[in-house]
Amino acid sequence: MTRKIFLTTALPYANGPFHIGHIMEYIQADIWARFQRMQGHQVHFVGADDAHGAPIMLKAEAEGITPQQLVGRIGAGRAQYLSGFHLSFDHWYTTDSPENTELSQEVYARLKAAGLIYVKSVEQFFDPVKGMFLADRYIKGECPVCHSKDQYGDACEVCSSVYVPTDLINPYSTLSGAKPELRSSDHFFFRLSDPRCVAFLEQWLDAPGRLQPQVINKAREWLSGSGDKALADWDISRDAPYFGIPIPDAPGKYFYVWLDAPIGYLAALKNYFESGKPRAKGELRSFEEFLGAPDTEQIHIIGKDIIYFHTLFWPAMLKFAGPPFKVPDHVYVHGFINLSGEKMSKSRGTGLSPLRYLEVGMNPEWLRYYIAAKLNGSVEDMDFNPEDFTLRVNSDLVGKFVNIASRASAFLTRQFAGKTRFAADASSVQAEAAALSSTVQAHYEAREYGRAIRELMAYADRINQAFDARQPWVLAKDPARAQELQEVCSRALYGFKVLAVLLAPVLPELSARAARELFGLDSSFMWADAAVLPQGIGSYRHLMQRVDPKQLDALFASVAAPAAAVKPAGTAAAKAAPAVADLPGTISIEEFRRIDLRVARIVEAAFVDGSDKLLKLTVDLGSGQRTVFAGIKAAYDPEKLKGRLTVVVANLAPRKMKFGTSEGMVLAASNESPGLYLLSPDSGAVPGMRIS
Ligand code: MSP
Ligand code: ZN
Repeated sequence: MTRKIFLTTALPYANGPFHIGHIMEYIQADIWARFQRMQGHQVHFVGADDAHGAPIMLKAEAEGITPQQLVGRIGAGRAQYLSGFHLSFDHWYTTDSPENTELSQEVYARLKAAGLIYVKSVEQFFDPVKGMFLADRYIKGECPVCHSKDQYGDACEVCSSVYVPTDLINPYSTLSGAKPELRSSDHFFFRLSDPRCVAFLEQWLDAPGRLQPQVINKAREWLSGSGDKALADWDISRDAPYFGIPIPDAPGKYFYVWLDAPIGYLAALKNYFESGKPRAKGELRSFEEFLGAPDTEQIHIIGKDIIYFHTLFWPAMLKFAGPPFKVPDHVYVHGFINLSGEKMSKSRGTGLSPLRYLEVGMNPEWLRYYIAAKLNGSVEDMDFNPEDFTLRVNSDLVGKFVNIASRASAFLTRQFAGKTRFAADASSVQAEAAALSSTVQAHYEAREYGRAIRELMAYADRINQAFDARQPWVLAKDPARAQELQEVCSRALYGFKVLAVLLAPVLPELSARAARELFGLDSSFMWADAAVLPQGIGSYRHLMQRVDPKQLDALFASVAAPAAAVKPAGTAAAKAAPAVADLPGTISIEEFRRIDLRVARIVEAAFVDGSDKLLKLTVDLGSGQRTVFAGIKAAYDPEKLKGRLTVVVANLAPRKMKFGTSEGMVLAASNESPGLYLLSPDSGAVPGMRIS
């Protein structure tokens, strides 16, 4: 059965650009959305800016623009992040819209008709200079307990006492500095404590599989609190001046931003339906029909700080507003992403800016992979750790996964015109893939992405090991064993394809390229493609670069220095462009040609007495043999080097060393992380060939 999924992420406040926490949430949701689409399900993945509220109003005022202008500007900046990180929202909207005004006023009218709204006079601090009531965060004063100065209106940061703003000694408005006055005003309340609401919520929370256990526990605590912690009714109104939606028949009163924000999910969906996009996907029902249908799944993905709003107010509002509104089927909560402790925030600059990440040319799929590898279905926080990031991307994605394709394709392309051949026992290979596919499917469904990735990398290990065990480079030398070689490479290639399909929710671009370029499909993979043995392979172009530690340095460098050398984001070129400042000075082709690079065979390799770094190599350059001392002892066993081809700088001036004279240099790759990799030419090259 085709599922009909209405999926949202929390609506970000429109007073600033996205930070890494937003992007992490969107990556989590996007992986799930893509996974569901790959199953053939209908997904409507919708987001919007949360435009209303006092902070946005005040920020606009400080900039001398209207709140609408501010929200418009912030909204216009969203696309570069969404496309930059391959976030496949079907629609992005704003809560400051006619649809939201209409829906919010409608929900309110229905709650009022249900007897769940009442008016009560509230005493609150008022700033006589600004002419507005002050939320707690705009009031400071002296702590009534420890007498520390400049403490906020709700709690003391020095002694941790909790109180109300009227308890502060010498309170002042942080907006004008004026002494606030207590004034009373009528406020509208939603009667959350009504027995109907409580009874409904108890049953809603309990529905099996609806919420994560940690979330149910939290919500229950609030629901069954007593005394000081008793479930309170909800103040849903704010007095003018306020940037929000007017409350009908109540001049000067606006809905508190948290009332219209979640209704903004529905307003965005409505605007999306009016755009005609769902129709293009085969959803022919109207917004109202779709929303109210029993087969529609309404799912919200949010962070742990906004559970209260989404598991108490929001379902209760929807329930008592009645059809076509329906209660959320699931609210899935994630923890916070933190930057690995102090290290990052202090010594490495200002934190992880998602825009800068793109600007310095880092691959968005690296971040998607890293976050996926660290995510699970619970409400735990995660760390972004640069070393761990580099390791996972370089060793898992490049070293294990992409490597399979490049190794298998080399032989298949050169010796078998890209055609595959599967032995009679291929069904066992397919059975292994089928088992993997269903395990990984269950993990994605449960948002246990970390587990999915672990399964997939264990499979990549098995594919690589099986490939190595058959020593294809040995088979390649024996024409009588060509068929065996073709089968070995075909199995490895199939393994790669299985991985490319099952990783597609995480690595959409790379998988789409593999589908197109390697496997000749005209659309992206669907889940079932994992079962299909590939007929052949198209021409292989490198699929993914390794993380360059210089990019991480540029990412965390304090913004002043290399930023100027970086291309602006949002242009197609920006993604691939490394920071220019990171590149060494250029050389001319003539200068390059002065370096005589040659293919060489290592004929002898030996330890050097008294040196813990060097190996003594005898290399055959075709025209004769030479001695080269190479600092590769830590990475290579001399026995294993004998006979292999590598690359030598042949016209390097001889250098007298403690242990003898070195007559050249072998080339090897390395970076700050451990590991050293000798270069070698593709098979077919012979000693003495010039490299240019
Ligand atoms: N505007 C409200 C949500 C209204 S939903 C009807 C809001 N906005 S927010 O911009 O502050 O947060 C948006 C989302 O980002 C929330 O789900 C929040 O939990 C999430 N995150 C904010 N910081 C985060 C991290 N450091 N890590 C992960 N998610 C974080 O709240
Ligand atoms: Zn105090």
